[in-house]
Amino acid sequence: MAKRLFITGGTGYLGGALLRIAAGRYELGASYLSHRPPTSPHIDWTPLDVRDPQAVRAALMRFRPDIVIHTAFVQYGPDLMAITAEGSGHVATATTEIHARLIHMSSDVIFAGERADPYTEDDEPDPISTYGESKAVAEHLVAAANPAAAIVRTSLIYGFDPIDRQTQFVLEIAAGDRPDRLFSDEYRCPIYVDDLATALLELGETDYTGVLHIAGAEQVSRYEMGTLLVQALGHDPAKIGAGLSANLPVRRPRNCTLDIGRARGLLHTRLRGLREVIAELSGRSIA
Ligand SMILES: NC(=O)c1ccc[n+]([C@@H]2O[C@H](COP(=O)([O-])OP(=O)(O)OC[C@H]3O[C@@H](n4cnc5c(N)ncnc54)[C@H](OP(=O)(O)O)[C@@H]3O)[C@@H](O)[C@H]2O)c1
Repeated sequence: MAKRLFITGGTGYLGGALLRIAAGRYELGASYLSHRPPTSPHIDWTPLDVRDPQAVRAALMRFRPDIVIHTAFVQYGPDLMAITAEGSGHVATATTEIHARLIHMSSDVIFAGERADPYTEDDEPDPISTYGESKAVAEHLVAAANPAAAIVRTSLIYGFDPIDRQTQFVLEIAAGDRPDRLFSDEYRCPIYVDDLATALLELGETDYTGVLHIAGAEQVSRYEMGTLLVQALGHDPAKIGAGLSANLPVRRPRNCTLDIGRARGLLHTRLRGLREVIAELSGRSIA
């Protein structure tokens, strides 16, 4: 019998890819908040606000998943801590109660990004943004409520079908519709959404506990990332200007390169770098 997999934030970018890739392999349940999805014979959708611990418990008690992948979050706003941090704690508590495997999504910006070496799973979070702080608190609450959970730190997520928000933003810059510049001194390890979703499903089948870095294999600046993706999609990157994060009055995490050696040793899924993905997909129609 197929295992039961529940995705919080099934209407989100990663949530959508997880549901697409897991289709036919699991009994699927998923939650939404403001974007009510069309009824599906293959996905048991439920409205859920993770700020409400009783609602989280009731949703998971009803679906009875074997595995939960917690992607729901917000990046900004007055409810950042209540949703992104405390909401993750509520999900972790409920998974412990129903003995479900939990994969919790975290982020590379739990690090300050002020050093040259890649960050490993053993490095202590030292966030400098409110979002990074909320994700660091979430990690702490999740580990306390469900010590068997896997806590996955990832980097910028991109994809082509549909195109992710960040790439859409860069396409608008390339079209001359936005004046923004892309930082050439902010480094990340972008991951192709299909690689990330496949790796998370594989991780769900292991009993790995604790923090794991799952990101793309190549470190690139936001400027490099933007120009490479725009070119891959068949557009001219000439209008994309470069800027320096270091010149801003607010500190932003600059080098959040993640060491992915542990994930590579544990998982069969290839965690491809950006140029590798573009080269492999360029034979197909990503443009
Ligand atoms: N995207 C990236 O580049 C990136 C980078 C590093 C880490 N991550 C992590 O990866 C995860 C997924 O990111 P994403 O970009 O795929 O997310 P996303 O597209 O922004 O989707 C967020 C999801 O959370 C749901 N949601 C928001 N508030 C909620 C609440 N109060 N209760 C329940 N659900 C709520 C939304 O539901 P509705 O749409 O129905 O309202 C949506 O399904 C996040 O944990 C994020 O921190 C993402």
